[in-house]
Amino acid sequence: MNHFISVRDVPNPDALVEESIRLKQYPFAHQNLGKNKVLGLIFFNSSLRTRMSITRAAYNLGMQVMALNVSQDSWQLEMEDGSIMNEGTVEHIREAIPVISSYCDILAVRSFPGLKDREQDYKDRLIRSFAALAGIPIINLESATLHPLQSLADLMTIRELQKTDKPKVVLSWAPHVRPLPQSVANSFAEWMIAAKMDLTITHPPGMDLSVKFTGAAPIVHQQENAFEDADFIYVKNWSSFSDYGKFANMPEWMVTQEKLALTKNARLMHCLPVRRNVVIADDVLNSSHSVVIRQAENRLFTAQAVLKKILEATQ
Ligand code: CP
Repeated sequence: MNHFISVRDVPNPDALVEESIRLKQYPFAHQNLGKNKVLGLIFFNSSLRTRMSITRAAYNLGMQVMALNVSQDSWQLEMEDGSIMNEGTVEHIREAIPVISSYCDILAVRSFPGLKDREQDYKDRLIRSFAALAGIPIINLESATLHPLQSLADLMTIRELQKTDKPKVVLSWAPHVRPLPQSVANSFAEWMIAAKMDLTITHPPGMDLSVKFTGAAPIVHQQENAFEDADFIYVKNWSSFSDYGKFANMPEWMVTQEKLALTKNARLMHCLPVRRNVVIADDVLNSSHSVVIRQAENRLFTAQAVLKKILEATQ
């Protein structure tokens, strides 16, 4: 594996999950693999889990880590080719990316979409520019359209807890107070399909995702119907793909104990951070159904598995 930008960079997602499970058991088994190697973390947006889990993952492999919060610490970057830079932007990515990569061995980048221009966002230009200009492996820490590190941890969590060969997994839209990207939901759908899960997606009419990611997964507009016989409920808000960036707060879509009672004693998943009593009710998050902390813990070992595979491929 060279880059880790989408599920398409992973020849066998379940083999990567098995590697992650081994690392959870023996986190220091490869503590010299990354000796004298530097991981650069480039953040255009905030993070708690992604930043801390990949930092710890790198330490477990003996790597050094350098982080840059671009929007706070660095020059404002220009991305347009041919731009006359006589306004706010100070440095072009054509210089910035090769310079950053000259200090690092692997680069990991987070950059959210603007949610104004679907065509621009869905080109996923920044992460693709890093892959084109850096000359070193790139890891996606959540781009305009995808969050593959989250989905790998989600798949690991399901594999650890599933009781049947092909559990019913429901991706449920939930209310929120502002428009959010589609990246977590897009990635979750494509990783579940790659892992051959029985995936159902439920959302209100109009709050759709791109079929490029949801494929042939059934779409159900009645949340309660979708929840019937589910083994895993994955809750997430996203804004509309077709009416791009449109947001809706429908409190009746919040996940409650009553809705969970329709499932097959399902596990409750969310990528975090979660707004309590907006997205998911307190008593659901506090119950034994919730596996959100396990998901977050698994971010460490899945990030470590990705770094290990890249380090082994570039030895
Ligand atoms: N789930 C997730 O990516 O969390 P952070 O935004 O805190 O990194």
